[in-house]
Amino acid sequence: MTLFSRISGTGSYLPPRRVTNDDLARELAERGIETSDQWIVERTGIRARHFAEPDVTSSDLGLEASKRALEAAGRKAEDIDLIIVATSTPDMVFPSSAAILQRKLGIAGCPAFDIQAVCSGFVYALTVADAMIKTGSARCALVVGAEVFSRILDFSDRTTCVLFGDGAGAVVLEASETPGILASDLHADGKYVDILSVPGHVSGGKVLGTPLLHMDGQAVFKLAVRVLEDAARAALAKAGKTEADIDWLIPHQANLRIMEGTAKKLKLPLEKLVVTVHDHGNTSAASIPLALDDAVRSGKIKKGETVMLEGVGGGFTWGAVLLTL
Ligand code: ACO
Repeated sequence: MTLFSRISGTGSYLPPRRVTNDDLARELAERGIETSDQWIVERTGIRARHFAEPDVTSSDLGLEASKRALEAAGRKAEDIDLIIVATSTPDMVFPSSAAILQRKLGIAGCPAFDIQAVCSGFVYALTVADAMIKTGSARCALVVGAEVFSRILDFSDRTTCVLFGDGAGAVVLEASETPGILASDLHADGKYVDILSVPGHVSGGKVLGTPLLHMDGQAVFKLAVRVLEDAARAALAKAGKTEADIDWLIPHQANLRIMEGTAKKLKLPLEKLVVTVHDHGNTSAASIPLALDDAVRSGKIKKGETVMLEGVGGGFTWGAVLLTL
């Protein structure tokens, strides 16, 4: 009997259009909005982000990331028996981006569904896929985080529009005799719905409310540092491990100050922190698998090492997954 699930391949994809802080500052200046590379770097660590072209969807980005993850795993699309896409910027209201991705992969029949937990989406999706593999419902899952956050940004609000970007990351998660995913710890607290939301909805053929992102940045900041530490400690305790067992920490890539604060609270040297936020911005559910793939492909993370993934985002949602690669 298979007791474990393990990542057998990672992949990611960024849309080609790279927008630096200076590029964005110039575009915003044309709208009469003032910002600067210095402000953005000092407060967030972000230096650039990638924006998808208007006709490119989350499933398009997810498809490219999935192809790369499948190739790394030595698998074909036909081997996949479960698809989960974490996204807050789906292609359509329905069907799910996972179903659309399934069609683009040229396969049919396996279950495919989206998970909506905003920036915690990928750790939620990985936890669900792990549980389905452990209970025998799947053997070879494709778990994807894919976002086109540029679609829901209010470019008249400099406090939010400088923070986010587009992209996708994917992993192939397979049944395994040896441990891969060691423990996970997920949470949500709906009383914080209002501090980070896109409050619009579709009704009677119209969009009601605003379909753009709103955030109370300082409230998010304070909550994020606290819950990221709690989730990491809970996942370590469940796995019977300590901070000393963590080779690499991959928090949701939202803000360098939040990430470094979390590493310090866990008493981890900053060399163990994987950082891609400087070049990706905050890509919500895509940020963790993008950072994971970046670190694997650059040779930083090696097979057999222990990695802590941590998500935090709207809902409020948060969670951690501890795994051996
Ligand atoms: N350029 C220049 N000035 C700006 C900008 C900008 N882009 N944005 C805000 N300012 C100004 C403000 O107007 C304010 O000016 P004032 O003092 O004259 O009023 C000043 O800078 C300070 O603004 P604050 O909001 O107090 O800045 P703060 O230090 O809190 O940083 C930030 C803002 C970066 C958003 C911070 O609160 C943060 O990182 N919060 C966490 C956000 C986050 O990580 N969200 C994502 C997590 S969940 C998810 O990923 C969906």
